[in-house]
Formats: sequence, C-alpha cells, structure tokens
Amino acid sequence: MKTQKPDKNQEKAFQESLRPQRMSQFLGQEKIKQELEIFIQAAQKRNEPLDHLLLYGPPGLGKTTLAHLVAKELRVNIRVTSGPALERSGDLASILTNLKEGDILFIDEVHRLNKPVEEALYPAMEDFCLDIILGKGPSARTVRLELPKFTIAAATTRAGLISSPMRDRFGIIFRMEFYNEKDLAQIIKRSASILKIPIENDACAKLSKRSRGTPRTANRILKRVRDFAQIKGKGVINREILKEALKILEIDEFGLNKVDRDFLTTLCLDYQGGPVGAETLAITISEDVTTLEDIIEPYLIQKRLLKRTKKGRVATPKAFKHLGLPLPKNFQTSLF
Ligand SMILES: Nc1ncnc2c1ncn2[C@@H]1O[C@H](COP(=O)(O)OP(=O)(O)OP(=O)(O)O)[C@@H](O)[C@H]1O
Ligand SMILES: [Mg+2]
Repeated sequence: MKTQKPDKNQEKAFQESLRPQRMSQFLGQEKIKQELEIFIQAAQKRNEPLDHLLLYGPPGLGKTTLAHLVAKELRVNIRVTSGPALERSGDLASILTNLKEGDILFIDEVHRLNKPVEEALYPAMEDFCLDIILGKGPSARTVRLELPKFTIAAATTRAGLISSPMRDRFGIIFRMEFYNEKDLAQIIKRSASILKIPIENDACAKLSKRSRGTPRTANRILKRVRDFAQIKGKGVINREILKEALKILEIDEFGLNKVDRDFLTTLCLDYQGGPVGAETLAITISEDVTTLEDIIEPYLIQKRLLKRTKKGRVATPKAFKHLGLPLPKNFQTSLF
C-alpha cells in the first residue's frame, strides 16, 4: 500500500499535464463541441448563465475536462465538488451562496448525491433559490434564500442511476461516446509532443487501435511505451518498440487488457458464453459489479464482444473467435 501513493500522484500529475487547456485542444466529440459552442454563444449573447449541463459516459472520455473548458469559454469560475462530498444540504447551501452570477458548479459522480441534498438542489436549479429550515420541531420555519444565477455541470458514468426529476432539470444532456481511431491518433500525437517523445505515424495509428476508445487509456499506454522507447529503444516510438511494449503490457489487437480477457474467458469457458448475472461474473473474476459495469463492459459491448440481455451477460460468437475458443454445442444463437 505504501508504494502506491506516490505512483498514484505521479499518474495524476501526468494526466493533468496532458489535459487540454482550451476547447481547440479538446479533440474529437465533434457533435458535442459544435452544439456546446452554439449554446455557449447564445447564453453569452443573452447575457444569461448557461443551462444546466449533464455529461455522461464511461470513465476517461473527457467529462471533467469538458466541464472545465466550458467554464473557460464562458470566462466564469468553476467550483468543483462531487456527489459523495455533499453530505448535507448545509454543504450545498454554503457552496451555492458563495457562487457568483454565471459561475459553474461542477458536481462529479452526481448519481451519488443523497436524497435530501438532491431535493434541496431542485429549487436551486429551477428557480435559483434555496429553502433552508431554521430551528427544530414545531418552531421550525423555512427561509427562502435567493441565489445568484449559476450553472450546474454534472458528470456521471451511470446515467441510469439519476432520478428522472433530477435528469429533467438539466437543459443540456450529452452522452460521451468512445473515440474513433482517427481522433485518438490525434490525441496521442498531441500528448507525445507534450511529453517530447517522437512517435512514428504507423505506431501512432496502431496505438490508437489499442486504447479502448479512451483518451485516458491512450495517454497511460503512451507513458508506458515511452519508457520502453527510452530504455530499450532509441528514444523514438516506432512499430517494433510498440509491439514489444504492448506484448509485455498484455494489450491485444482489440485493445483488451488481461482483466478484459479474463472476464471474457470466464464467461465463455466457465459459463459456456452465458447468459449469466453480472454479480456472479464479478465474483468469479474478483472485481466489484460497479467496476464490471462501468469500466470493463461498456467497451466490450461497443466492440460487439458482449451483450447485456434480460437474462444476463452473453458472449458473442465474435468473443469466442477473438479468444480462439470453439463455440459450445449448446450455445444460444437465438440470443443474437
Ligand atoms: N477530447 C480530448 N482530447 C484530448 N485529451 C483528452 C480528451 N478527453 C480526455 N482527454 C484526456 O484524458 C484524460 C481523462 O479525461 P477526464 O478526466 O476529463 O475524463 P472523465 O470522463 O472525467 O473520466 P471519469 O469518469 O473517470 O471522471 C484527461 O486528463 C485528458 O488528458
Ligand atoms: Mg472526471
């Protein structure tokens, strides 16, 4: 445990240094950027705060980054908090009353807000006011506090866990998608230049295929491959160095890592491809269900290696093929 901390901090500092500082450096997600641009300009023209914004999608796709960039574009301050950090409605009140007109309050993991805080947030989002209860028992009374007109930017990996009254209060909702290879290649190029490590074009294209459609993963692999290039190679990332590094890192042609493959192998071998419940699968591979559902599964589903059905998780014939396993005799092709 002791050795983990500096590593984690280093990783964080590294990720921070690569975080885009302006919208033009935020590559990909064109549709979201175009729409945002319009909403931002319109709000500025009307001299109003931006509508409340909800960003959802798998980890590492740029939700936090985008929220910060929106604040930059609007030239407003951004206050950062998270669902679990707002324990009491008093916490919320002290943050909201300290905001200035037009400011952004970024709430990460918004699906983890507790009910009282969530309910206190409703009038704050809708009418920019906060009802505070003073005193206790029969003498308690409610005081209505006026708030500056602000914007909530919320992020979550689990949109399904947000209640519908909460979701309805967001005027702008964006689902972040996995990045295509072209956009990821650009992100890798930019990161490599910040890290001052030359990368050849074909290596960059190959790396973009192995990054699980995720900028954070692309940056993480790039960092590891840079080590290989500097120690074992000539300080340049080329095809050979990349191939060697990916082999050692156990990342395959689809960008799957060992955990992904262990998961699929369990599903294909131990459960004949399913269907099997997420909880059971999570226990078998010693991961918790949240990790399984938020981190492992979305990419496998996007790659059409896995399906979520009413009866449980099912591996696709493509998954068997990818793992080099024969389809079991009783494989339920009817599920496809
Ligand atoms: N569109 C992008 N262009 C360039 N780099 C990006 C982009 N999106 C994300 N990144 C990089 O990936 C890293 C992770 O992004 P970020 O922290 O914003 O993801 P997130 O969606 O908030 O993840 P989580 O759900 O885990 O909080 C950033 O530090 C940044 O370096
Ligand atoms: Mg984030």
